[in-house]
Amino acid sequence: MKTVSLKLRIWRQAGPSSPGAFQDFDTGPLAAAMSFLEMLDGVNERLILAGQEPIAFDHDCREGICGTCGAVVDGQAHGRQAGTTLCQLSLRHFAAGSTVVVEPFRARAFPLIKDLVVDRSAFDAIIAEGGYVSVSSSAAPEANTLPVPPDRAEEALDAAQCIGCGACVAACPNASAMLFVGAKVSHLALLPQGDPERRRRVVAMVRQMDAQGFGPCGNEGLCERACPKGISIRHIARMNRELWRAAFLARD
Ligand code: SF4
Ligand code: FES
Repeated sequence: MKTVSLKLRIWRQAGPSSPGAFQDFDTGPLAAAMSFLEMLDGVNERLILAGQEPIAFDHDCREGICGTCGAVVDGQAHGRQAGTTLCQLSLRHFAAGSTVVVEPFRARAFPLIKDLVVDRSAFDAIIAEGGYVSVSSSAAPEANTLPVPPDRAEEALDAAQCIGCGACVAACPNASAMLFVGAKVSHLALLPQGDPERRRRVVAMVRQMDAQGFGPCGNEGLCERACPKGISIRHIARMNRELWRAAFLARD
């Protein structure tokens, strides 16, 4: 069995107003097939057995679906493996004996709670502002009742892959949330089900995004590179078009 030993430098901070510092850990030999979060579990087991406080980190599905996990690993949100959430990151991508630096997502709109855990409820506030869509909640309609061109359906499904992890914000020098909001706006603007509330939705979500303290897009493209779901910055352009369209039509 292939094994790998790492030196971890992990950000420890007891709370938002406590001073933070890096703490070093030697993992000892671990199976290279192990996931990054399993490695953190192992470190925590040792800390608990030694009567020390375990490292706080977010996780849930551990399958790249829920968007709960997230940390900056060696300067890159979710680590340097493209198209991968932190929970999908495998130790086989790290050179044996290397030092791995693990920090929380850092953004004004994501205040730190503890260690690697940040408060991403600003995203929830933006989603809540998006409101409802005009779909019937009764039996599923016949599939051809609302025809959707395949290219629009594909684009909407691509946007719908956003899991709300916040890596785009952590990767952006301006801590912009425009990739996240662009994905959510695109997803519904491209489909007939989202059309009736389309103008109100984009204005409300962008207003809430600004109110939550996210920065503007600087066209760096780092959000797209960090996104584990391959959300394209085309969706930011669409969000801006939707916003202009809403502003123009509001003059009617
Ligand atoms: S756009 Fe990508 S990086 Fe940003 S929240 Fe969605 S899935 Fe995460
Ligand atoms: S724990 Fe669900 S995406 Fe990582």
